[in-house]
Amino acid sequence: MSKKLLLLPGDGIGTEIMAEVEKLIAFLNENRDTGFSYETGLVGGSAYDEHGEAISEQDMAKAQSADAVIFGAVGGPQWDNAPYDKRPEAGLLRLRKDLGLFANLRPAICYEALADASALKREIVEGLDILIVRELTGGVYFGEPKQITELGDNENGKNQKRAVDTQVYETYEIDRIARVAFDMAMTRSKKLHSADKKNVMISGVLWDEVVREVASDYSEVEFNHILADNAAMQLVRNPKQFDVIVTDNLFGDVLSDTAAMLTGSLGMLPSASLGAPDEKSGKRKAMYEPVHGSAPDIAGQGIANPIAMIASFAMALRYSFNMIELADEVEWAIAGVLADGLRSGDIMQDGCKKVSTKQMGDAIIAKLV
Ligand code: IPM
Ligand code: MG
Repeated sequence: MSKKLLLLPGDGIGTEIMAEVEKLIAFLNENRDTGFSYETGLVGGSAYDEHGEAISEQDMAKAQSADAVIFGAVGGPQWDNAPYDKRPEAGLLRLRKDLGLFANLRPAICYEALADASALKREIVEGLDILIVRELTGGVYFGEPKQITELGDNENGKNQKRAVDTQVYETYEIDRIARVAFDMAMTRSKKLHSADKKNVMISGVLWDEVVREVASDYSEVEFNHILADNAAMQLVRNPKQFDVIVTDNLFGDVLSDTAAMLTGSLGMLPSASLGAPDEKSGKRKAMYEPVHGSAPDIAGQGIANPIAMIASFAMALRYSFNMIELADEVEWAIAGVLADGLRSGDIMQDGCKKVSTKQMGDAIIAKLV
């Protein structure tokens, strides 16, 4: 089995946290005979500075031929004035779209040691283990038209424009993400919520109709419909009522940031973005990335939390390479260093030891020995 990775650190803290993944790969190749090879590339602002695009054609080609892409983070204030289609986020969106990564798995786990680091009370988040399944290649992120048109001046001489984004879903897109979510539910607590806004959006009506049809193929799974605004509220009121939540691209973006904070910090949440299995090989295109962004405010200081990045790599072990035991081991190692009281600044608590990005990475690897 080929194990070719493409590492795209991106911008800001992306390069710092990716360095910890590189250390982990070197460790695994040496001590566990994993046989990973990797190339690196540029994405986001760093690609724009170098190539004038948020990702170059060469790096897109590398992504297409890799067995898995490991992605850091993109963006930063220095690119605020880049043309819209070349802004750092455009590189990430192109990767998702061109690789067909429609299924985004965002697990939110509250590690025991961090139950007091959450902004919510311990009893609300303790033991939390939920999975947000976010549709990633459709909806308002990609729907056309997506434009601003000039309308000319109004009667008071004030220039007017109209901005349009398009929320659009077709049956097959909803069907395939729902099946991923129900399949995941079957491996977990067999409980699934589908979140939409069918009370105001016609795309939500179709969403619900298609998800219900898929639900009828999974009679063992307890199916619940929930309006997306209510889901946002319930996530902070009583998050443990959920197990799997399936939702569209935009609601999934918002709900997963909320879910992240239940775990203590945005720096804790990994994600996997998967394509459809190839008809011949059965292999899925895949990209693994932390849910957090490039954190320009702390970039370059060596203090970023590398856990979401390392946990994203663990998801690659699990979903792209079927190295389940190794993935478990890396996740235990993360839980272990947290239990030992090591903390990056974002999750710092009284009585714990504050460590740098590098020290956190080293400590996680040391647990694997
Ligand atoms: C995420 C991010 C991205 C998104 C941005 C960086 C384009 O917020 O992965 O959640 O909106 O999908
Ligand atoms: Mg987001």
